[in-house]
Amino acid sequence: MESRLEQCLAQIRRITDFVPEQAVVLGSGLGAYADKINTVCTISYNEIKGFPVSTVSGHKGRFVMGYVGDVPVVLMQGRVHYYEGYSMSDVVLPIRLMGKMGAKRLLLTNAAGGVNTSFDVGDFMMITDHIATLVPSPLLGPSNPELGTRFPDMSRVYDPQLCDVIRRSTEGLKEGVYLQTTGPQYETPAEVRMMRALGADAVGMSTACEAIAARHMGMRVAGISCITNMAAGVLDQPLNHTEVEEIGKRRAADFQALLEKCIVGMAEVQ
Ligand code: HPA
Repeated sequence: MESRLEQCLAQIRRITDFVPEQAVVLGSGLGAYADKINTVCTISYNEIKGFPVSTVSGHKGRFVMGYVGDVPVVLMQGRVHYYEGYSMSDVVLPIRLMGKMGAKRLLLTNAAGGVNTSFDVGDFMMITDHIATLVPSPLLGPSNPELGTRFPDMSRVYDPQLCDVIRRSTEGLKEGVYLQTTGPQYETPAEVRMMRALGADAVGMSTACEAIAARHMGMRVAGISCITNMAAGVLDQPLNHTEVEEIGKRRAADFQALLEKCIVGMAEVQ
């Protein structure tokens, strides 16, 4: 019996033989970037039987394959989140699929709340490390040696060479530790104080699990957060998803320009 991952890959291979070198997950607000690349093929998630389909409004769900300059890429326009009710292994299936399509490098993007009080709304933060202990591991369950080892090393999840490319590509870049929660509720001020004490600089509801799955299968990983709001309790105001989206949209053009530079630069890292 073929695994679901293999079944999904076989369906994609019936549509296209495109082999991406690089994979990119477009976080909220960044989806429009997919319309800018030199597209070869698009595949909606709902065309792939067995694929987890996102339910959040504003998240389009499809793979866009094509070229950024000379670099063959696959973009995820919309991701699935754990808070939608999928298992963690479903949440990371698209990441594994992009790895199986051939992608050697993965650039993860997201919107996140600023836990570090020296950050400002609208900042970009390169992820240097993460805290994923508050969410279930995507690697729970029987070991699959075809993907990776049982106890993979996570001492350097975010690739130092890719991090250097991002640093060179961006002025005013912040750096820090991303902490993943399950969501979907935003944090309480007490939780944000706890996260700060634990060493987190930004908080969000995605990304770390994807980075784990990608490292497990040997992909090189990098990540960038757009700080769309200060986390709960930092400012004397409630959080609201519409405002988070609004800042994401306002920073979208700069985020896209940064992404483009990073994708081209990352292609130099073999
Ligand atoms: N908390 C969690 N996830 C988020 C936030 C936040 O403040 N902002 C954007 N995604």
